[in-house]
Amino acid sequence: MKSVFITGGTTGLGFAMAKFYFDAGWRVAVASRNRSHFDDNFTGDYANISYFELDVTNRDNVKECISSFSKYGLDLVIANAGIGYAHKTTTPNFDYANKVLDVNIYGVQNTFEAALEYMIPKKSGHIVAVSSVAGFNGLPGVSAYSGSKACVKMICESLYLDLKRFDVDVTCICPGFVDTPLTRKNPHPMPFLMQADEAARRIGNAIEKKKMVYSFPFLFSTAVKILGMLPRPLYAKMMSSKRINYSVED
Ligand SMILES: NC(=O)c1ccc[n+]([C@@H]2O[C@H](COP(=O)([O-])OP(=O)(O)OC[C@H]3O[C@@H](n4cnc5c(N)ncnc54)[C@H](OP(=O)(O)O)[C@@H]3O)[C@@H](O)[C@H]2O)c1
Repeated sequence: MKSVFITGGTTGLGFAMAKFYFDAGWRVAVASRNRSHFDDNFTGDYANISYFELDVTNRDNVKECISSFSKYGLDLVIANAGIGYAHKTTTPNFDYANKVLDVNIYGVQNTFEAALEYMIPKKSGHIVAVSSVAGFNGLPGVSAYSGSKACVKMICESLYLDLKRFDVDVTCICPGFVDTPLTRKNPHPMPFLMQADEAARRIGNAIEKKKMVYSFPFLFSTAVKILGMLPRPLYAKMMSSKRINYSVED
């Protein structure tokens, strides 16, 4: 039986991916800070999914949990845990912004480190991080979130090249808008909003195909990529945060 460990797997996209892999016959473990989300969401057959309480920013904590689950073999580790903003802000709240960087960047690093301690000696395995199309361009109102997701994409692309020699695969997932507790806080329109189960199905296929980077939905992610190719003064004119009525504090 194949096995997958998913950080932040108790709600939203992580929950949908846990169900996707469990339904496909995998042994699944999810991990988060708050067990109550697991107890609420994982009922019926899904109660057989393993739970680990961890904070991805705690390096030792992540190592302990992944090492404990590795006794079942560790085919796939998905660094999905991430946080965003309740409110988009033109002036960064640096305390909160640093927390976003900590969870979204070091959370991924800690997860990858723990997975690779097992996968590199075994010369097999697959690590995946959930970045975002928000990492393709510096977006207004979410500087730390955009920056964290760009950083994660670059980490994945580099590791994809480096880890080939150890037969370890790397995939970076860049979703557009997915309907989850994270995005339900968004006050603005979310074009091409996708249901989490459909997103999980697409992500599962991309992982199966061992893609280096998978961004979706196609039309939305292509539009965001085109914005990235515009001359920066034109991009700035189109996206200026002066045009957007965000709050000043988070
Ligand atoms: N939804 C979207 O439209 C969208 C688009 C692009 C990318 N993403 C990315 O997809 C990932 C999942 O997001 P989501 O939309 O599913 O959000 P979500 O429903 O808020 O889920 C976030 C998960 O991460 C866990 N988590 C948060 N901080 C953690 C920490 N320090 N340590 C361990 N677990 C932690 C949460 O559980 P606890 O709070 O109990 O710890 C929860 O299980 C994130 O990386 C997000 O940036 C989402």
